[in-house]
Amino acid sequence: MGDLRIAVVEDDEALSRTGADLVADAIARHPTAAVVPATGNTPMGLYAELAGRRRAGTLDVGRVTAVQLDEYLGLDAGDRRSLFGWMHRSFLDPLGIEGEHVVRLPTDGDLEEACVSFDRELLARGGIDLAILGLGSNGHLGFNEPPAEANVPTRAVDLSPMTVEANGRYWGDVADVPTRAVTLGLGPLLSARAIVLVVSGLGKRAIVHRLLEGPVGPSVPASFLQTAEGDVTVVVDRSAWGNR
Ligand code: F6R
Repeated sequence: MGDLRIAVVEDDEALSRTGADLVADAIARHPTAAVVPATGNTPMGLYAELAGRRRAGTLDVGRVTAVQLDEYLGLDAGDRRSLFGWMHRSFLDPLGIEGEHVVRLPTDGDLEEACVSFDRELLARGGIDLAILGLGSNGHLGFNEPPAEANVPTRAVDLSPMTVEANGRYWGDVADVPTRAVTLGLGPLLSARAIVLVVSGLGKRAIVHRLLEGPVGPSVPASFLQTAEGDVTVVVDRSAWGNR
């Protein structure tokens, strides 16, 4: 088991800076790292901070590989709601990561078989070095919705009503949120050598304390971070943490 650290920061800016420090350190130590960048709102400032450091010449991501965390199913190519598109705009483009340095999840064909091959190939290339994750208010990581066991593989899932509701803020309307998705499994995610979980806002207060202090189990998938193989850092802002 790795170490679990908690960094409580005052605001969004500090969350982005602290998260970017952790990511930049991990990449400096391991320039060919395979990095999983979550989409969602919370890590956007962190990615902007990384992009600023790259522009300033203090961060070299030239040999990093990005591995997609999750994607909705049933979208046409170029759909505005594609999470791959979001990952492109927020992470790949600003950091100049492209071509063979991008590993994309399968979204069509025989998904069950494609996901098994995906996990096998991910393992063969050395697995995940660093996962940058956000926290669902239902305790999901990626789209590993509760209940999810610690060893679940990459697979297609139904999104929970709570996640569909929460994702409505990305696309303007809950009715626009796809209800099926493919997600990296908790198995490969929890085997990452390092995980940075960014958590922000009052709405995440109950779940962040539950994941850190409550029992470990499938009803809160993120609670398995307590027993992850690699080092986990939870960067949490004051409004999510409270005045403890
Ligand atoms: C996004 C993802 C989700 C989000 C989580 C938090 O790729 O996998 O697990 O990280 O739902 O989303 P935000 O940051 O928007 O609160």
